[in-house]
Amino acid sequence: MQSYGKFSKFYDQVMGDRSAAANYIRDLIEVHHPNAKTLLEVACGTGGLLGRLSESYDVTGLDRSRPMLAIAKQRLPNIQLLQQDMTSLRIGRRFDAIVCAFDSINHLQGFSDWRKTFRGVAAHINTDGLFVFDVNTTGKLQRLADGPAWVKQFDRDLVVIKVIGGKGNKFTWDVKIFAHRKRDDYQLIHETIEERTFRMQRILVTLRSHFRMVKVFDPEGKRPSDRSERLYFVCGRRRG
Ligand SMILES: C[S@@+](CC[C@H](N)C(=O)[O-])C[C@H]1O[C@@H](n2cnc3c(N)ncnc32)[C@H](O)[C@@H]1O
Repeated sequence: MQSYGKFSKFYDQVMGDRSAAANYIRDLIEVHHPNAKTLLEVACGTGGLLGRLSESYDVTGLDRSRPMLAIAKQRLPNIQLLQQDMTSLRIGRRFDAIVCAFDSINHLQGFSDWRKTFRGVAAHINTDGLFVFDVNTTGKLQRLADGPAWVKQFDRDLVVIKVIGGKGNKFTWDVKIFAHRKRDDYQLIHETIEERTFRMQRILVTLRSHFRMVKVFDPEGKRPSDRSERLYFVCGRRRG
């Protein structure tokens, strides 16, 4: 089963409200492309972020996971949602802005897939359009792998998340949900999500072959690096 099959039902309560990310992304778009009207979110998942962005843009969502899209459909019944793999985008129209958020791109295991995604995005963006995406860095995932599990209770469900690995910059989010059924009866739901990191410089060099303007930001305001908690890339003025 593809990732998020079992986790999809719990995704929103575990990940929480996506307003802060939506505001940050909206600000980046406002600064770099204030006239943007149409927006595609690649890997939109359950549509939490997409819903927020729909307050400012005419949005379309895309994800590979059918269970995640089913939840997005309930949340956003009037918004076009497409089931596609981000490494082979084929939409038949262009957008003013394309967004790929919450380390979705880290889900791609080979850098050739990152390249295919960048190429596909560039082909679906208007000449003045903007591509905004974020990544988890090696530093952040290694810190999580070296640290303790994250344990939280939601109502009566207990969620335990541990990042493991690190070899070859490959990490696994090991997600265990003890879902309450009745009295002291719990069902264990276990899912693993693989993430891969690549160096910031390598990402920047590749992006520059598709876009003339490429910037990278650390949302904590620090100098962007492979040790940042998260990096946001903003790309514009596509080539060709
Ligand atoms: C961490 S979630 C992010 C969801 C949403 N962007 C958000 O901010 O809440 C990652 C999403 O990436 C999607 N995904 C992973 N690999 C994908 C691929 N190759 N093509 C399209 N979607 C993919 C997953 O199905 C999942 O919905």
